[in-house]
Amino acid sequence: MALREVRLQGDPILTKECRPVKELKERDQQLIDDMIETMYAHEGVGLAAPQVGVLKQIAVIDVSENKDDPIVFINPKVVETDGEQKGPEGCLSVPGLYGDVTRPNHVVVEALDRNMEPFTIEGEELFARAACHEIDHLSGHMYTELAEGPLYEMEDEHDENE
Ligand code: NI
Repeated sequence: MALREVRLQGDPILTKECRPVKELKERDQQLIDDMIETMYAHEGVGLAAPQVGVLKQIAVIDVSENKDDPIVFINPKVVETDGEQKGPEGCLSVPGLYGDVTRPNHVVVEALDRNMEPFTIEGEELFARAACHEIDHLSGHMYTELAEGPLYEMEDEHDENE
């Protein structure tokens, strides 16, 4: 495993549409391992492939307390949303800054796992926020497009980093 360089806002790759994955090759498995490691190294709760320079529909998230439960999304889709939450959101591609973003409070996501097996997962609050945020990355969208008001710094930046 290896850390990958995280692309920062302003890099045009972050605005591009990612290709669906048809087959997971060995190097894609390596990419997924590296993305998980990179996410943990930066204390993020999610990371999308374009953030490490790869235009494939792959994202990882981990909203568990102990950071020991990474979820891999291949070709993910939000298929159901419910409710609303507004709160601070951050991104490893926009280090040190946060913005207030309204997201659904509950989402259902359909995706493939790293064996290319379909699965459905649902969750609320931080999971819903992280899933929407990462899936947006796969179509070239950043949370900064949705932020209400200016971005700001926070004292404790370990909470909501995505
Ligand atoms: Ni992000």
